[in-house]
Amino acid sequence: MKPIYLDYNATTPLDPAVVVAMLPYLHEHFGNPSSSHIYGQTAHDAVDRARQQLADLLGAQSDEIVFTGGGTEASNQALKGAVFAKLHGFFGRWARDAHIVISAIEHPATVQPCKFLERLGCRITTLPVDGQGRVDPDAVKKAIDRRTTLVSIMHSNNEVGTLQPIREIAAITKARGILLHTDAAQSLGKVTVNVNDLGVDLLTVAGHKLYAPKGVGALYVRRGVQLEPFIHGAGHEAGRRAGTENVALLVGLGQAAEIARQSLPGATERLRQLRDRLWNKLREALGKRIVLNGHPELRLPNTLNVSFLGHIGAELLQRTPAIAASTGSACHEGHVSLSPVLCAMKAEREVNQGAVRLSVGRFTTEAEIDQAAAALIGAARPVAV
Ligand SMILES: Cc1ncc(COP(=O)(O)O)c(C=O)c1O
Repeated sequence: MKPIYLDYNATTPLDPAVVVAMLPYLHEHFGNPSSSHIYGQTAHDAVDRARQQLADLLGAQSDEIVFTGGGTEASNQALKGAVFAKLHGFFGRWARDAHIVISAIEHPATVQPCKFLERLGCRITTLPVDGQGRVDPDAVKKAIDRRTTLVSIMHSNNEVGTLQPIREIAAITKARGILLHTDAAQSLGKVTVNVNDLGVDLLTVAGHKLYAPKGVGALYVRRGVQLEPFIHGAGHEAGRRAGTENVALLVGLGQAAEIARQSLPGATERLRQLRDRLWNKLREALGKRIVLNGHPELRLPNTLNVSFLGHIGAELLQRTPAIAASTGSACHEGHVSLSPVLCAMKAEREVNQGAVRLSVGRFTTEAEIDQAAAALIGAARPVAV
């Protein structure tokens, strides 16, 4: 029997309706969307439809969607594109005149482009988070100066699920004329994400967190925002991302966005109920030997990051083959790997090393939650001697 899948933040299975939508574009409708004949037109229409479906999920205009090869590319495009757009012309500015503000718990898809830009001379300010993983908007205000090009704060964290005060941060960046990027890879389909409510200029989408395939994503780019393209070539994506479109993947992403839009806000409530059922069972059985990481309320409804005190998270999962889940992305201290996100949240060592991320999704059932809880409780109970 396969283990119960509680790792929806790592990736989601394809929704069967996504597969059905994609199939004709893998064989029958093989045209190049740039061709003017009927084969091309069919492919072109499919890409247009997918763009509209994603725009509708985000409350955006379809011309504000740039398709990419995933969430990592979208964030790279946002960060590098914003800095490089400022370097034009003979009398142009140097990279050392650019400044980016990020948080201490960003995904590597944001951190690593910043490290690259730092090597070019760009200044990066990394803001701390509190014990529940939240950035203080006041800290953003203080970090901004006249050279700040962009602020990039993730919408929700992949490990602990904490949601950030993006709206408050947007009010600050807007008043100063500074771009705001948010990585919403983990949020789409779980909570309502509307680019105008949030007030962001740039937003990252990752297909495989949304029941679409891996290797496809998008960057929302507010009308009027200038970005240097990341991939230069022919005029695809209105000159913003060259390369013949991967029509089937885009159709999959569009269909996934449509399903997500139709299932919200009900999906949020369903996920929350499943997650809380799991948490309540674990807490009832383990009492003070288990602690919750992240914000208790301002958190993704599907994410339960808990620490089994007195245990090493990775070892506990090895002893629980009935479930498939994750510990924090590894950063090593001695022989035990620690989560950089929990380190940034100043979690005590015992809490950090005992952490396990349990993330539920569209296909999780109550019966699976009950079995998973029983398996975890069995593995976490002290062994009688
Ligand atoms: C918060 C966040 N941002 C970005 C990414 C990267 O997306 P992709 O895997 O599509 O490149 C991920 C995936 O793990 C993520 O969790």
